[in-house]
Amino acid sequence: MKFMTQDWMFSLAILILGLMSSIPRSSAISENNKNNVKTTVFYSPKIELSPGFISNKIYYDVDFPRGHIALKSFHAELVDELGNSVPLQETYLHHWVVEKYQQPKNVPNNFQIDNIILVRNSGLCQGDVLGQYYGLGAETRGTKTYIPDPYGVEIGNPEEVPQGYEEKWLINVHAIDTRGVKDRMGCIECKCDLYNVTINALDGKPLDPSYKGGLGCCPDNGQCKMKKGFMGPKHVIYLKYTIMWINWNDFVVPVKIYILDVTDSWKKSYETNGMMSIEHNCQVEYLVEACSKGHDCVDVRRASVPIKNGGYIIYSIGHQHVGAIRSTLRGQDGRVICNSYPKYGTGKEAGNEKGYVVAMSACYPKPGSIKLFDGEILTIETIYNNSMMHTGVMGHFYFLVAEKLPHHNV
Ligand SMILES: *[C@@H]1O[C@H](CO)[C@@H](O)[C@H](O)[C@H]1NC(C)=O
Ligand SMILES: *[C@@H]1O[C@H](CO)[C@@H](O)[C@H](O)[C@H]1NC(C)=O
Repeated sequence: MKFMTQDWMFSLAILILGLMSSIPRSSAISENNKNNVKTTVFYSPKIELSPGFISNKIYYDVDFPRGHIALKSFHAELVDELGNSVPLQETYLHHWVVEKYQQPKNVPNNFQIDNIILVRNSGLCQGDVLGQYYGLGAETRGTKTYIPDPYGVEIGNPEEVPQGYEEKWLINVHAIDTRGVKDRMGCIECKCDLYNVTINALDGKPLDPSYKGGLGCCPDNGQCKMKKGFMGPKHVIYLKYTIMWINWNDFVVPVKIYILDVTDSWKKSYETNGMMSIEHNCQVEYLVEACSKGHDCVDVRRASVPIKNGGYIIYSIGHQHVGAIRSTLRGQDGRVICNSYPKYGTGKEAGNEKGYVVAMSACYPKPGSIKLFDGEILTIETIYNNSMMHTGVMGHFYFLVAEKLPHHNV
């Protein structure tokens, strides 16, 4: 950039402004006075996709409601330049993920991601794995995320941001354009033999032949195998996200966000002082092998994971991919906390695409009715139909815990 003249830079700026005016705009806040719930619609930066291509990018410092507030819901979907919903058979939404981070103030813009601190949820995986505040995949259009009153996800509390830092948000969108591909379901499951990859995107090492598919074979700018001669225009799409929120007040009861992963093979370890700690090992996704019987083919996985602090479950939901039959969260005594079922589409239109998981059912127990005790061991169970192989499937449970109820206010 340093060889560019001032004039050139100026024309570039004008050009960019011109381009920007054609993109969907984040809306003004609209207020529903009944509960003071505000609704704001935002758009990600534009995502360009040619037929068969993957976009897997992280957008830093995205538009977000600011101030000390409580989030009530987060709804997201892919839309085109006119704001129309894009159906999954055109562009498959593998996932979108929203994460909170803290960034030193006054760093120049081109160093935006230096020294940032990711602030993970209360969930249990190692490091930053599954640390998101929100995130869904193909099921996003049909899935409820609303948190009932008086609960909410507290954000923007100035007391929680270190001196000299500010709170920001990033969004990762993983989308797969499946226009003209040879094997649509194989492409959305990131099957390695359909992609032009030789390096595993997860660890940067040469692909191991035993790895059949998953995010390692679905990198940004990968392309799935095409039907011969298929041509199509480049598509420009956006992640449109609609956030409902209220200003923070003393009546809001904060909830903590947990995500459990059925692949978490944790183990206990003891430190030199004898203190026990738990090392989690979440793999995020797994392989479902095809069964050999030919009938009643189901693949069942379970993981039992202790949580540190108890509380009351306010909301819970499973996340699974195509092939899913059910996911279940159980308490230590075996009681069912939530059964979450996939809904498959039956048509062509966005939100009802045939053969895709277009919704997962959420559980809203009567607040106070499901109590977790400190250290309770929860079990996640995920069931897939394995009449055929599925690669890169997920088995996550997302749930919200209030550590106190409203009438326990102190
Ligand atoms: C895959 O192939 C496309 C088209 O030839 C190319 O543009 C792209 O860079 C390739 N991607 C990878 C990850 O190799
Ligand atoms: C699994 O899928 C196959 C093929 O679609 C179907 O015939 C079978 O009934 C399904 N099994 C279960 C247990 O859902």
